[in-house]
Amino acid sequence: MCGIVGYTGSRQSSRILLEGLKRLEYRGYDSAGIAVISPEKKISRYRCRGRIANLERLIEGEHPEGNTAVGHTRWATHGRPSDENAHPHTDCSGQIVVVHNGIIENYLRLKKELSSAGHRFTSDTDTEVIAHLVEDELNGEVSLAEAVRSALKKLQGSYALGVISSSEPGRIIAARKDSPLIIGLGEDGNFLASDVPAVLPYTREFIFLEDGDKAVIESGSVTVSGADGAETERKPLTVSWDPVMAEKQGYRHFMLKEIYEQQRAIQETVMGSLVRDTGKVIFEDFNMEPAAIRKIKKIFLIGCGTAYHACLVGKFLLEDFLKIPCEVDIASEFRYRQPPIDSETLVMAVSQSGETADTLAALREASSRGAFTAAVCNVLGSTMTREAGGVIYTHAGPEIGVASTKAFTSQLTAFYLLTLHLGIIRGMLDEKKALEISEALIHLPNKVKHILDTQNETIKEIAHRYFKKKNFLYLGRNINYPIALEGALKLKEISYIHAEGYPAGEMKHGPIALIDGEVPVVVIATRSCVYEKVLSNIEEVRARDASVIALASEGDSTVSELAEDIIYIPETMEIFTPLLNTVPLQLLAYHTARLLGCDIDQPRNLAKSVTVE
Ligand code: G6P
Repeated sequence: MCGIVGYTGSRQSSRILLEGLKRLEYRGYDSAGIAVISPEKKISRYRCRGRIANLERLIEGEHPEGNTAVGHTRWATHGRPSDENAHPHTDCSGQIVVVHNGIIENYLRLKKELSSAGHRFTSDTDTEVIAHLVEDELNGEVSLAEAVRSALKKLQGSYALGVISSSEPGRIIAARKDSPLIIGLGEDGNFLASDVPAVLPYTREFIFLEDGDKAVIESGSVTVSGADGAETERKPLTVSWDPVMAEKQGYRHFMLKEIYEQQRAIQETVMGSLVRDTGKVIFEDFNMEPAAIRKIKKIFLIGCGTAYHACLVGKFLLEDFLKIPCEVDIASEFRYRQPPIDSETLVMAVSQSGETADTLAALREASSRGAFTAAVCNVLGSTMTREAGGVIYTHAGPEIGVASTKAFTSQLTAFYLLTLHLGIIRGMLDEKKALEISEALIHLPNKVKHILDTQNETIKEIAHRYFKKKNFLYLGRNINYPIALEGALKLKEISYIHAEGYPAGEMKHGPIALIDGEVPVVVIATRSCVYEKVLSNIEEVRARDASVIALASEGDSTVSELAEDIIYIPETMEIFTPLLNTVPLQLLAYHTARLLGCDIDQPRNLAKSVTVE
């Protein structure tokens, strides 16, 4: 997904931008570029397809001087990945420079009009129209900020925008609509970025722009105006992530580092809200009064990708403990169907980034139809956290690997906490039961560590045995069915091996036709209410010559007699098995992808944060 970095201040800007763009690599991109205003008020622009390393090579030797610059990583939406389509884009004169995230929906019409008026276009992008529109408006009588404001009035679609011009060096004009944009406040200059990690080494103070905001950023000042055009104050927030947290810390990949960070991430998510002595939960930002909680008649859980799988686990918990009907929707589907929703409906959007376009649209749809909305989110200040009626924060810290790991297990943790919270208030959990659950929850992080300490080598060996296979099947039942989906998703995302997750009992209705000696079958067979049923499913698989890789509870000797390979999981309450079972499946995907030499942190065609529909 596209990323933006900008800087204006007393330092040389090109180095800051390249570093910032590298920190945005995790978002996924296909090309990159920067533009710098030189002391002689000339624009130097460098762009190329591929990695930031290519851009660095392009710039090497030239050392473009200048204190104001904007840069961009592009993930193609309009026009293929190429040098010409890489941002920044310019007007005809090359003096107005634009970087943009989002999609301009009416760009074709605008491009036609601008072309007939004599503008020359050099790319296939929607973004370039913005530069030419600003050029039209900037006639010597208005400032760059005013010209941008007038140009924006003609745009339909979404944008996070950074604009600079050689006519006003030392100034960046920013604007946002439906695409995240932040301003970092530094000691010797100010920053523009699409997300926090890009400029974390320089500042922890951020202004999170709101939809409709425009800002003028100078070295020593930032002025923001709201959607109505009037100057407004946006209070800076201090972000506690430190830059080291956002680096690899000696691990070969961010994904592996993040798998190993799960112990801490779960612990922090729990400790952020749980009162250990009583089993009660305090969600500071949930904003739903006990009276409203008691009135909830129906819950919808909405997310995309991995977050959707967290929702599926959430449904089991909420229906089991609260006896409230709960539906789970993929966000891109929810927004176009018309399920009955009213003020006694709770709609929860689950999202690591808080910026996923489909989830955000679903959240907006739900609140426009009168539901109480809440977000389970990992990113402070993100759009969803500002728009939802309430927020439950996961405290996973920045997740850089495109394939989600620690954010997922933190989302599951948030659902355990939510179940406790709602269950106590609605009188469905007495203190004894609440304490039993919360005690088990407190011990989960150590059990995660135990799996990492004792099973990693076994999983590496399993990956060695099967990494050349072309198809995998993942089976689970009941509350572990979503984990079969998540295990399969992890494998396909990072190793490009075709993998399907299935409810084990449904296998006989189709996928069994695919099973033969060449299809390894991963079966989640930890102790549960469906344990015996899963054993029968393993027998069905074995009868078709497939190799079984089983997840079993420690001390289980039955499964070990049935499976070729076995991964042991410590005992816990059944409701917590999804979280523990997730960890070895993440490692299995990781080691498999490594053996195949895949680009683990930035898998092809995927993006960390999908901010377009
Ligand atoms: C993308 C990512 C997934 C992620 C999904 C939802 O597809 O590649 O890893 O699960 O978006 O992202 P969110 O930030 O809303 O959790």
